[in-house]
Amino acid sequence: MISPDTDHNITEALRTLSQPVRIATVGPDNTPLDVYVAPLLPEQLGDQTFCREVGIRYPYIGGSMAKGISSVAMAEELGRAGMLGFFGAAGLPFSAVEAAVDTLTGADFPFGFNLIHSPHEPDLEAALAELYMRKNVHLVEASAFLALTLPLVRYRTHGIHRAADGIIIAPNRIIAKVSREELAEKFFSPPPEKLLRQLLDEGAITAEQAELATQIPMAQEVTAEADSGGHTDNRPAIALFPTIASLAARMEQQFGYGVKLRVGLAGGIATPAAAAAAFAMGAAYIMTGSVNQACVESGTSDTVRRMLAETRQADVTMAPAADMFEMGVTVQVLKRGTMFPMRAAKLYDMYRSHDGLDGIPGPEREKLEKTLFLAPLADIWRDTRAFFLQRDPRQVERAERDSKHLMALVFRWYLGQAAHWAKDGTSTRTMDYQIWCGPAMGAFNEWASGSFLASPEQRRVATVARNLLFGAALLTRANILRYQNIQLPADFRIEPLEDIHIKEYLA
Ligand SMILES: Cc1cc2nc3c(=O)[nH]c(=O)nc-3n(C[C@H](O)[C@H](O)[C@H](O)COP(=O)(O)O)c2cc1C
Repeated sequence: MISPDTDHNITEALRTLSQPVRIATVGPDNTPLDVYVAPLLPEQLGDQTFCREVGIRYPYIGGSMAKGISSVAMAEELGRAGMLGFFGAAGLPFSAVEAAVDTLTGADFPFGFNLIHSPHEPDLEAALAELYMRKNVHLVEASAFLALTLPLVRYRTHGIHRAADGIIIAPNRIIAKVSREELAEKFFSPPPEKLLRQLLDEGAITAEQAELATQIPMAQEVTAEADSGGHTDNRPAIALFPTIASLAARMEQQFGYGVKLRVGLAGGIATPAAAAAAFAMGAAYIMTGSVNQACVESGTSDTVRRMLAETRQADVTMAPAADMFEMGVTVQVLKRGTMFPMRAAKLYDMYRSHDGLDGIPGPEREKLEKTLFLAPLADIWRDTRAFFLQRDPRQVERAERDSKHLMALVFRWYLGQAAHWAKDGTSTRTMDYQIWCGPAMGAFNEWASGSFLASPEQRRVATVARNLLFGAALLTRANILRYQNIQLPADFRIEPLEDIHIKEYLA
């Protein structure tokens, strides 16, 4: 029990999270009043049963970041720190994902892999689901799904059985990321009957397993993804979270699964205040992305890390996405220090207004070749064609019949390369870097300015995470004081702390 008597002591008492704080004061009518703040440790902030089930200590997840930007090293650091990291499998060749699985297999901490819906490459989606089943990856982050697919249901129902005590065990867990309630509803529902029947017909599951599968949700956890880096519907977290949380409560009752349906929150979380707000709304866990890309363990380049360290809140914008370019889908990217968003938007405009590359007026085409592609478009098509002949020959057949599709594949070459140039730090292409990033990055930089975390070399993913959790717990305790009419000291701040100091306060 700490009974602070000065402003300095109040701040220190609040920071000592494991100790209650008691202040003797007087109420409005001059009656003596005992103000009390209970201990609040970072591990108490979210849903502790979720943490226990997944095998982590803290309700904190590093979200998947494509092309291995959320790297093996990142999953390892988070895992060793008692948190969960998802490896960013999207956009990587199968062999690279397999290598990452092999490296992480056998780790003595939990980890997960991304299973991303790939409308252009259904075979890859199926192959990844098979890989995860074969190699006993029991936890995936499912994202970008518009509907449930056969590979996803196959993964979820693989090995489902009833234990001796009657409880249904589904060894494979899906944490689904969604930004719309219709999708959350699909994930909180049991696997669709039609897909179960298909798996039964294929002999992938038994009749008993198909029956058991009707009694479990596709995903017990859904991450509500608000305005974030990369693919995003730009929903505000404080509007989205309550909707998905309310849906979870309703569906839990409706289906009577006998297990809790949980909702985590992602998007915009990179400060203690944002983390505290997420937990105050009832988030089972928080998920971060943008801020982790800026950390030393991420699979991007040092140049990008430096650019991210200078990013402010308004330095991000939406730009056409490479994977769903033709559908007009956009992703949130950095706009400061790169011309990518403008250039990609120009390509999308051209795609909309022409039927094929031949329809682009000469001077415009020349400009494209000189500024964006740095090669004749015919050469780009030659390389793109060779790539797809290996990866998916159907694309080439279609492009040779349909000039608009050919144009899309050529333009998508630029968008795809732009992410590689950034990740590889290609010095001749800085103006074309495509860097997925949300407003959380600017929020973090503002919070970290003037501290050791301002420097990109000091940003370790677990240190950042520990600070967000520690700060969230501290802010929550400070608010409990405020709500009891105790003014916080004028200089009360939640500052980034070195790991060693966090440890001391938690001791
Ligand atoms: C560089 C980057 C790449 C991302 N790639 C993926 C991805 O491949 N799959 C996925 O599910 N989410 C992806 N995301 C989203 C993150 O996993 C996370 O949900 C999101 O970044 C959280 O919001 P924040 O950026 O505001 O922290 C990506 C985000 C970033 C910043």
